[in-house]
Amino acid sequence: MITFDSVTKRYPDGFVAVDDLSLEAETGQITVLVGPSGCGKTTTLRMINRMIDATEGQILLDGSDVRQIDPPTLRRGIGYVIQQAGLFPHRKIVDNVATVPYLLGWEKKKARDRAMELLERVGLDPKMAQRYPFQLSGGQQQRVGVARALAADPPVLLMDEPFSAVDPIVRTSLQEELLRLQAELNKTIVFVTHDIDEAIKLGDKVAVLRVGGKLAQFAAPKTLLSEPADDFVREFLGRDRGIRRLSFVSSSYLKLRTDLTVTSSSAAGPSDDAWLMVVSEDGKPVGWLDRDEPFGTYVHGKDSLRAALDAALLSSSGQAVALDESGRVVGVATRKALDEALSEAADG
Ligand SMILES: Nc1ncnc2c1ncn2[C@@H]1O[C@H](COP(=O)(O)OP(=O)(O)O)[C@@H](O)[C@H]1O
Ligand SMILES: [Mg+2]
Repeated sequence: MITFDSVTKRYPDGFVAVDDLSLEAETGQITVLVGPSGCGKTTTLRMINRMIDATEGQILLDGSDVRQIDPPTLRRGIGYVIQQAGLFPHRKIVDNVATVPYLLGWEKKKARDRAMELLERVGLDPKMAQRYPFQLSGGQQQRVGVARALAADPPVLLMDEPFSAVDPIVRTSLQEELLRLQAELNKTIVFVTHDIDEAIKLGDKVAVLRVGGKLAQFAAPKTLLSEPADDFVREFLGRDRGIRRLSFVSSSYLKLRTDLTVTSSSAAGPSDDAWLMVVSEDGKPVGWLDRDEPFGTYVHGKDSLRAALDAALLSSSGQAVALDESGRVVGVATRKALDEALSEAADG
């Protein structure tokens, strides 16, 4: 756990970049610092590994004041990832990833084996290992940056706007990769971004900072969306707060109709005006009975209510087709069911 206890950073020119900050970044979780440019995110992050020292207050790493730990020792346990990866241009990818193991005096073979293993972990083709950074795309370089930070298996990872410089599609895949990795690795991650959507997607908890380095709110994403602390947070969260909040409501609250599905073999003629979903022998959705119209699906219980609503909006029938995790139809969520779930969600 990383604890900020009334931490203030005043730069030599008198500028207060971080003002009396207190918060806890839990072990094994992703804590996101988000806020507009210049609000003190980078300063806050760098005080953890002592690239910057706090002026007042204390930062504790698992209970020990970081100022009592000498920086090289401290940094051995802290991986650091920055925007545009910051790779060494004249070193091959494999050697970039092995940077810290080399510094720690690992044997060359062991360090390289570890690097190869990590490249695979972050989703890179092992063939990339022999290339130089300029021979990789921005997204690939960013993956190498993550692999490098993980090389010596540090318990803590600090990430400063790591995905800000890549295009939106690559960014989405990097975010998903990080969540997948984190599910395996359980690092204590402090992640800085100015993008509130990224914060909400990645954070177990999100600290919203305002200019002047003041903490505006520290809460789980779901709470930020439902109970923003003030106008600044509300505005920073932007529009669609209500819809976005549905991402945190489980679709398992939807009551499904199982009488609205028919198997292809038993399909009779058209029924009055109900939309019936035809299901194949192996349980997969085929289409609406006698209506050549689109349908939308979601995974019941796994996807959010937002995903179910989206599926309904993509279906001409206005109802969403519920699947299990292997893609088999488990029922249909009608407008009525969606309506009930939405009003329950609105009531909290
Ligand atoms: N070395 C410095 N001396 C004086 N002011 C600085 C220094 N470094 C950063 N600042 C100021 O501190 C504020 C916070 O900076 P920073 O932590 O980099 O913000 P962010 O990462 O949120 O964009 C900014 O206004 C910046 O200009
Ligand atoms: Mg910054």
